[in-house]
Amino acid sequence: MEFIKIGDILDGKHTGKKVAIRGWVYRERKQKSVSFFLIREDSGVIQTAVKPDSKDWDASQKLTIESSVKIEGTVKEDKRAPGGYEISIDMLEIVGIAERFPITKDQSEEFLRDVRHLTVRKREMTAIFKVRSAVFEAIHEFFKQREYYLIHSPSFTGSAAEGGSTLFEVKYFDQKAYLSQTWQLYAEAMIFSLQKIYTIAPSFRAEKSRTRRHLAEYWHHEMETAWMGHEELMQFEEDMILYVVDYVLKKCSKELEELGRDTTDLQKLKGPFIRLKYEEAIKKLGLKWGDDLTDEQERELVARYGAPVFITHFPRDMKAFYMKVDPEDSKTVLASDLLIPGVGETIGGSERITDPKELLESMKLFKLKKKDYDWYLDLRKYGTVPHSGYGLGIGRLVMWLTGADHIMDTVPFPRTMTRLHP
Ligand code: 4AD
Ligand code: MG
Repeated sequence: MEFIKIGDILDGKHTGKKVAIRGWVYRERKQKSVSFFLIREDSGVIQTAVKPDSKDWDASQKLTIESSVKIEGTVKEDKRAPGGYEISIDMLEIVGIAERFPITKDQSEEFLRDVRHLTVRKREMTAIFKVRSAVFEAIHEFFKQREYYLIHSPSFTGSAAEGGSTLFEVKYFDQKAYLSQTWQLYAEAMIFSLQKIYTIAPSFRAEKSRTRRHLAEYWHHEMETAWMGHEELMQFEEDMILYVVDYVLKKCSKELEELGRDTTDLQKLKGPFIRLKYEEAIKKLGLKWGDDLTDEQERELVARYGAPVFITHFPRDMKAFYMKVDPEDSKTVLASDLLIPGVGETIGGSERITDPKELLESMKLFKLKKKDYDWYLDLRKYGTVPHSGYGLGIGRLVMWLTGADHIMDTVPFPRTMTRLHP
């Protein structure tokens, strides 16, 4: 018999029919007159039942939590069963008996992270990873519709792009190299070839701060577009976020429900997102010019709106060397961060400097060595064009969508300052 998905049974597609499933024992209740086994796989959990007169009774009594099984049986509706359906077992095949599973109720976060290779089986983790997968799908679909090309950059680089303090240094034959913090500088070269490009790839940051939203390795979605200005960029970001939210709501409603994520705010979400200049944002928070917003302050600010908020026109020295100075206010740059409820900064984007002299001056201001960026300066010498781009932390977006309260819970094997195993 062909194996079918448990989720399809729970959707009522096989009621009254004989089915074959395979999965893992999620819960068990062995009683004298009947034994129940909840079987799980990615699409759901279903109750199965076996009685003492069955040829499989003895085998069933050996089953332990997380044992893998193949089961055939008949589906019937049963209001008492979790999910509303039950399979009465006609055939049970044990594939692998599990030893005593170490994950039980009430274990410390620390322990769960030590056995992460097993924790990934938990229902909440499965639900989050399914949402994460849908986010990737949505981004790819969105960019396909906008006729963008997918392109990649190396993970080994010779110089910093987002500031030296978070660089991972690695031995590269007999030279020093760094793990890439961003695709951007290479992307700025590639727009001359493809004009409209995007990527999703790992970025590396030696973050020493322990926060709920920083990883040492994270998945970074970036885009770069020739002929695009800062206003158009923000509109594009908004369209992209609305697309991803809509996609995830449609595809993952069950998972979000399982996670207890009240999606009212996501369902109500629409453009245009609030746009606040940095100057207005600091006023609201009682800060002074030049103060950087902390994670807390970002979350406090965005909580007032309950929806994503752009902060724009940051002071120049607070941001990156490649950002274009606002022609109308030279203290600031044409850059924006998109803050997301419960998380804070999730996208950072800007219009880039196009003029070679301006770029050189900016590099001096940021104390960068010209020889490290010779090739990057070339891009302004050979047919320079206005262009803009952004970077988005996938983990942060997934935090917001799923309600996960730590970015570590949005990836199966998080890398942080203190966590390299498993
Ligand atoms: O703001 P960042 O540093 O901007 C850049 O890297 C630009 N080069 C992007 C571009 O314009 N192409 O990083 C972009 C986003 C942040 O807004 C945040 O969501 C995420 O990357 N991010 C991290 N996510 C998880 N862990 C970390 N340590 C992160 N650092 C940045
Ligand atoms: Mg940033």
